[in-house]
Amino acid sequence: MCGIVGGIAERSITNILIEGLKRLEYRGYDSAGLALINGGQVLRERRVGKVANLEEAVNESHIAGSLGIAHTRWATHGKPTENNAHPHISGDVAVVHNGIIENYQELKDDLEALGYVFTSQTDTEVVAHLVNDALKNTPSLLEAVRQVVPQLKGAYALGIVHTDHPNELITVREGSPLVIGVGIGENFISSDQLALLPITNRFIYLEEGDIARLTRTSIEVFVDGNRVERPVKELDAAVSNASKGEYKHYMLKEIYEQPEAIQQTISQALNGNALRDDFLKNAEADFSKIQQVQIIACGTSYHAGMIAKYWFEQLINVSAQVEIASEFRYRSPVIVNNTLYVCISQSGETADTLAALRDTQKRAAAKNLDIATLTICNVATSSMVRETDHSLLTLAGPEIGVASTKAFTTQLAALMLLILKIGQVKNTIAAENIETITAELWHTPKVILDTLQNNEAILRLSELFKEKQHCLFLGRGTQFPIALEGALKLKEISYIHAEGYAAGELKHGPLALVDNDMPVVILAPQDDMLDKLKSNMEEVQARGGELFVFADINSGVNEKDRQHVVKVPSISAVLAPIVYSIPVQLLSYHVAVLRGTDVDQPRNLAKSVTVE
Ligand code: F6R
Repeated sequence: MCGIVGGIAERSITNILIEGLKRLEYRGYDSAGLALINGGQVLRERRVGKVANLEEAVNESHIAGSLGIAHTRWATHGKPTENNAHPHISGDVAVVHNGIIENYQELKDDLEALGYVFTSQTDTEVVAHLVNDALKNTPSLLEAVRQVVPQLKGAYALGIVHTDHPNELITVREGSPLVIGVGIGENFISSDQLALLPITNRFIYLEEGDIARLTRTSIEVFVDGNRVERPVKELDAAVSNASKGEYKHYMLKEIYEQPEAIQQTISQALNGNALRDDFLKNAEADFSKIQQVQIIACGTSYHAGMIAKYWFEQLINVSAQVEIASEFRYRSPVIVNNTLYVCISQSGETADTLAALRDTQKRAAAKNLDIATLTICNVATSSMVRETDHSLLTLAGPEIGVASTKAFTTQLAALMLLILKIGQVKNTIAAENIETITAELWHTPKVILDTLQNNEAILRLSELFKEKQHCLFLGRGTQFPIALEGALKLKEISYIHAEGYAAGELKHGPLALVDNDMPVVILAPQDDMLDKLKSNMEEVQARGGELFVFADINSGVNEKDRQHVVKVPSISAVLAPIVYSIPVQLLSYHVAVLRGTDVDQPRNLAKSVTVE
């Protein structure tokens, strides 16, 4: 069925419209199109077939704009051709439409008598001409639409823009669904909130007969010309339940999708246990030149970057730094020649990461420095992917839960592939090491599947966290970032205060927090640091702390008084951070559910942080 997406923002919304259309693909359609208002013009692209065709056309024409409408069409009146695809234009008006205008033929006859020429066989085109015609009597786009609506019979939803009205988007709901996605300094429309979930979880559900006027900063809804108030609601879970399948929450579904998501991500790069010849081929010249790597990211993506730093240095002897984007961008960093700047981002739109990237590019250009940029990202059409020299996609599929899960583990898989590639190009890793690691990467989805078998055991442990106010997570080496990630997950969805620490830091402060009311989560894979970690566990127990240990089945760590152990299947030390992400995700999830919080849409948080 047809789908509508539209929006008005400060930034270019081309990719948001394309991404929105992709999220509506499941509805079935046969053509797609979009129109953007920019510089007093309507810029339009339409294509028969998949949204990917439209995306390709948009990438070629480079059209952009901060006001626009987009559509997937499921043919009713007229064949699935480019001419029949929406948006339809009359003069300076562009329209997208869902539903059917039943009296379109008689309206068409009248309009043709007035001299309007039709370029499609659709019922929709009459709306574009009617609005165009009504604008002869009024300078107000809203008023023109208000005059047209009573002439239309049928069930429909509309999105309308005009070149002379670059600061407004008009929308109508009359028998066909339409929601407004409320952003900060930007607002959107869609026929299905699913299309807008990456951008906002706040929606206004228009009622039948509503006409709304959206600007960047305001939303006005009218009924019969009178202003009415419509409440802003948080995500209506019932409506989006369908795509959660058997799972109670998106987060749980996404946790369980990780074996497949990782498999998808590595499949694009591997041929058996070898890197594909065409994998990051275009980046080879840049990789051979780089002397060091600077990773920039926020939140969970930053934690993935922290792990990559260990990997870059241990596995391929390339120096790597990682920094939180909001710090990097404001501290006037020295941009260094022959550096690869890597952005990691699920959305590819995170404001701080994007700003840090652009700033880096500007500084490098000003000094004529030779740098390269690369994005690891889950959204192929995102700004970061478009604006860096190279990109590597995590093929995790849409991540809807605000708390990042499958995006994180696929980022780790992608980072490992990137590291192997750079090592291969620079000849700093032996071929047999590449083979060993890739063989282990292929095996990781199975190990994750086995780790997920611990779900019930982790659920039982989570009961013991329900009433807690604080929690510590400890790990060493690449498990230190997993400790940080576990703490972030727990605090963001269960609202329990949690801290992640490198276990070696315990004595330098956090040990003072440990008492018999303090749960301490330990990440204990089978690696070189295990004995040292066991000493840290003793230190906690000696102060009355209660240990919750995720430990390798061969670690020799066993249950005892105030020491709960969940056995994790064996995995090579190098890939252990991917696998140990799973128990901390499950723990946070179950604690949050027990505490009755809004797991998928935690308070105060947004999925895509496009503002500072
Ligand atoms: C936490 C989480 C956030 C994001 C961060 C960066 O679960 O999801 O910390 O990781 O907002 O977002 P992206 O990866 O889209 O740049």
